[in-house]
Amino acid sequence: MSGAYEPTAAPTTSTTSAPEPIGRVLVVVPTYNEAVNVARTVGRVRAAVPDADVLVVDDNSPDGTGKIADGMAAEDSCVHVLHRAGKEGLGAAYLAGFSWALERDYGSVVELDADGSHQPEQLPLLLERLETADLVLGSRYVRGGKVVNWPRSREVLSRGGNIYTRLVLGMPLQDATGGYRAFRRRTLEALDLPTVDSQGYCFQVDLAWRAVRRGFRVAEVPITFVEREHGESKMSGPIVREALLRVTLWGAKDLPSRARRLLQRPAGR
Ligand code: GDD
Ligand code: MN
Repeated sequence: MSGAYEPTAAPTTSTTSAPEPIGRVLVVVPTYNEAVNVARTVGRVRAAVPDADVLVVDDNSPDGTGKIADGMAAEDSCVHVLHRAGKEGLGAAYLAGFSWALERDYGSVVELDADGSHQPEQLPLLLERLETADLVLGSRYVRGGKVVNWPRSREVLSRGGNIYTRLVLGMPLQDATGGYRAFRRRTLEALDLPTVDSQGYCFQVDLAWRAVRRGFRVAEVPITFVEREHGESKMSGPIVREALLRVTLWGAKDLPSRARRLLQRPAGR
């Protein structure tokens, strides 16, 4: 990440501004070996938000997920598929999906996992919140948010990751690592996406951090995250190590400007 950006306004998690239309919505669904899940998830999205288009971004899954997605696209003109040559990580898949969206006339873009963990039925809540925000995070860790069926070890990792991120980056967010979110087009356009090189799940922190630093209105709405019933998580040791390393580096790089902000803050705040 470039260190050249200073927040243009104080980061905020709430807003009183007037609602603004969010335009056409594209829901980007990254897949790697989700043959048992993809059709059901896409079907739920189409039912929950019939006006939204869906883009499946498949990394040439060996289990044939891409073919299943092609079948859905042939039946439904609102479903699209982006085939990529091989597994390059969640970050790269989303960046490809975002470029696809920005080349077309979508007004907002949603991130949603294919495995059923993110409830498409909660998407209208995120989209409604986006009318007065620039980025909406589906949050497991704000009041009303929940995690269902996660092993204790995974919850500790996720909560610990969020606490570390808050401490090291000083971001006022409860769930900066989650992957259920909605961006306004102009937010994505301002995040300098070609310079994002986060490959794994720290991609989520990277984008939230970029948005906060640019002074965008980042809101969190409670979601219920339900652990997948079928298939396997792609979370791995290298993904955790990449996140730890990158968050620490971003925090170190930001230290001088953070110190300046603290010193400039009027007394009593
Ligand atoms: N195209 C593509 N390429 N898709 C991928 C890749 C990849 O390399 N890696 C994972 N995915 C897809 C999966 O197929 C799934 O649809 C989604 O990304 C999330 O992957 P999971 O492996 O199910 O993630 P998780 O449940 O362990 O983690 C979730 O929580 C994390 C935070 O706690 C996700 O929502 C993450 O985004 C989030 O950071
Ligand atoms: Mn999952």
